[in-house]
Amino acid sequence: MKTKIFVSGASGFIGRKLCIALADQGYQVHALCRKLDHPYLIQHENVQFFVGDILDKESLRHAMRGCEQVYHTAALAKMWCKNKDDFYQVNVIGTRNLLESAVQLNVKRIVYTSTCGVWGPTFKHPMVESDPRIAGFPIDYERTKYLAELEVNTYVQNGLDVVIVNPSRVFGEGPITDSNTVSKMVKGYLKGSWRVIPGSGENVANYAFLDDVVAGHMAAMVYGKSGDRYILGGEDISFNQFFETLGNVSHQHKKMIRVSQKLIKFFSHIELLKTKITGLAPFFLPEFADRLKYDQKYSSHKAITQLNYRITPFAEGLERTVHYIQKNISA
Ligand SMILES: NC(=O)c1ccc[n+]([C@@H]2O[C@H](COP(=O)([O-])OP(=O)(O)OC[C@H]3O[C@@H](n4cnc5c(N)ncnc54)[C@H](OP(=O)(O)O)[C@@H]3O)[C@@H](O)[C@H]2O)c1
Repeated sequence: MKTKIFVSGASGFIGRKLCIALADQGYQVHALCRKLDHPYLIQHENVQFFVGDILDKESLRHAMRGCEQVYHTAALAKMWCKNKDDFYQVNVIGTRNLLESAVQLNVKRIVYTSTCGVWGPTFKHPMVESDPRIAGFPIDYERTKYLAELEVNTYVQNGLDVVIVNPSRVFGEGPITDSNTVSKMVKGYLKGSWRVIPGSGENVANYAFLDDVVAGHMAAMVYGKSGDRYILGGEDISFNQFFETLGNVSHQHKKMIRVSQKLIKFFSHIELLKTKITGLAPFFLPEFADRLKYDQKYSSHKAITQLNYRITPFAEGLERTVHYIQKNISA
């Protein structure tokens, strides 16, 4: 009999690829989705879809019944939503519902997908798991993911076996969902609609390749220590390096325009005003413009040494991402 594994967020950028990897290894995957006609659902003989919502406990229990292991990837992983409270509901209450269901159904082990956003901006050194956050929480997504980690800690203290993984900025071969901001940028660059390098282009972020992140989740299930966090990252890359590499791997060198952080912040306020009047999603928010002043560097050393986590070179991952977009994603 195949081991049954529950995955939330099966239509998402990470959850979708995780379902494929688990199903390919012969596990029977119970995949939670919000609708069966979702365009990003995969077809695999080992994947059974269950329609449900992490805010609906009954649907969670129905989908999780009989599963030994749980991967919780579902979240509101975006910059903005109309009702700010949705971030708290989905990311915190949804996680609490999932943990409660897992206790009721005697699930043996859970891997919870958090984010490096719980640390936010970094100064000088790359952040490691034991570092405290050194900035406030102006971004709802980061705040509620941090609060969700506290929920996890409470359940761990009460005996539930949960490992936390913290991916950095994930990129790779997959659909362009709300959270897949790197592919949005790459697609824009290839089409000619993205020409901007923020500030001097020297600020650095950490980029994790999707396949590495998926493998890191599965390794965390096997080797992770309950209650511990594991950063699943990649290389620290500046915007200048990002676009230079993108030009090289796509063989399309395009002229980029440097726009100062102050100007981006000014436009983000106009965007906010537009959103207040029209209710339409903003292109950019002031709190994200502020973030452009800082680096976001993270070290994956702990995952490398304890989970055997492997990092695909950035250029190789980006080349595969470019090919995927050119082949699979139309204008
Ligand atoms: N992508 C990144 O760069 C990144 C980096 C660090 C951490 N993470 C974390 O990784 C996890 C997965 O992210 P992702 O990139 O795969 O995000 P994503 O592509 O936006 O997918 C989010 C998934 O969550 C589902 N979901 C949202 N609200 C739900 C609800 N109320 N009930 C059930 N399902 C719900 C979505 O379903 P629908 O398709 O129906 O909306 C979707 O399947 C998240 O926890 C995120 O915080 C992502």
